[in-house]
Amino acid sequence: MRQFEVAAGGSLAGTLRVPGDKSVSHRAIMFSAIAEGSSRITGFLESADCLATLKAFESMGVDYRSEGDALIVDGRGLHGLCAPSGALDLGNSGTSMRLLSGLMAGQSFDSVLTGDASLSRRPMRRVIDPLTRMGARISAQDGERAPLTIHGGQTLQAIDYTPPVASAQIKSCVLLAGLYAQGTTTVHEPGVSRDHTERMLDAFGVRLEREGATLSLAGGQPLHAFDVAVPADLSSAAFFLVGACIGHGSRLRLTDVGINPTRRGVIDILQAMGARITLSNERLQAGEPVADIDVQASDLHGIDIGADMVELAIDEFPALFVAAACARGTTRLTGAAELRVKESDRIAVMAEGLRTLGVEVSVADDGMTVVGRPDADAFHGGRIASHEDHRIAMAFAMAGLRSSAPIVIDDCDYVDTSFPGFVALARGVGLSIAARQAS
Ligand code: S3P
Repeated sequence: MRQFEVAAGGSLAGTLRVPGDKSVSHRAIMFSAIAEGSSRITGFLESADCLATLKAFESMGVDYRSEGDALIVDGRGLHGLCAPSGALDLGNSGTSMRLLSGLMAGQSFDSVLTGDASLSRRPMRRVIDPLTRMGARISAQDGERAPLTIHGGQTLQAIDYTPPVASAQIKSCVLLAGLYAQGTTTVHEPGVSRDHTERMLDAFGVRLEREGATLSLAGGQPLHAFDVAVPADLSSAAFFLVGACIGHGSRLRLTDVGINPTRRGVIDILQAMGARITLSNERLQAGEPVADIDVQASDLHGIDIGADMVELAIDEFPALFVAAACARGTTRLTGAAELRVKESDRIAVMAEGLRTLGVEVSVADDGMTVVGRPDADAFHGGRIASHEDHRIAMAFAMAGLRSSAPIVIDDCDYVDTSFPGFVALARGVGLSIAARQAS
């Protein structure tokens, strides 16, 4: 396993484009695979998670090739996938497993979806329940964990469904199954969640109605090939936004970043904390809003973050907790129990790491309070367990910018699930980070 060592202090400066958006990349592969015709995907994120999705479709007979900087996927139509010869190994990727569950439920053949130890611990009842109500037959470990065996050849019926939590993964799973169902599937969102599925289905020619928080889609609609330009991932940019805010004297430009309103919570939260962040060159790229983002070192102050902001920044709280530790005053997050069922329990794991670095935190079932230390070095050095969670590793790497001594982070291989090349890119804008193989 790789270990990161980050030297104390420093600042970030320059211009960078972080790799492509993970959520958009997954969907681009899935939708092109079941579309009619060949789709051209540029900016595809070649991370372990998205490559797991690509390999899953390859094993179901989908052909793809590189052409310059584009990935061309030859779609097989809604009913053209073939039975895979073995289990579909989705590694660490919750998005692959939950979205594919919906898609596989509508196939004529059986499939088995497996993942690594972390993915095998994550809750799958949230997709098994609605799919079972649609007529899918799914068996799981203890009824709720991967591996999932999805028995094909079932006739799915549309449902009217309200997920128990606001989740783009549940919503997308049900909508994808709805493509294969008889009748019109309706999902009532209990709260806002990222809408990449809706935007991209629309781009692929599917008629999907939205009325307030209610989405509906008629089954049997074909998808038509589309050229997807994947924006840079705001969730990856978030580490640099936080790094530049906390690193004294920093000044950074992040280009071509997705700023979808259902994802941009990290920008709004940091701005509410006093961050000097400005957006320019705002434009629409293949149905997704994109901008360049300038960020400078900022005097942050603590704020209260309530449930209404949680899903809008769901993946960015590890980075935001690091920002909170450098802010004047206290930051309180509530309504965020979902953080406990991500790649790690991100409340427990961030609290453990922040305490290791000398930060005062208190933990609740659904959130955390962080007492900021704005003047002195916010952190003393130490050795952090990332708990094999990519975002924990990258968040603590940024903490080095405000630490009085080096920070060592264990088990960093998982960074490649979302952000291959993180170390080189971070070094390029001034972070003193080295990766080495730990014995
Ligand atoms: C994702 C949705 C989010 C997010 C995940 C990616 C997606 O999960 O945490 O990293 O691509 O749909 P939930 O929708 O379950 O909150």
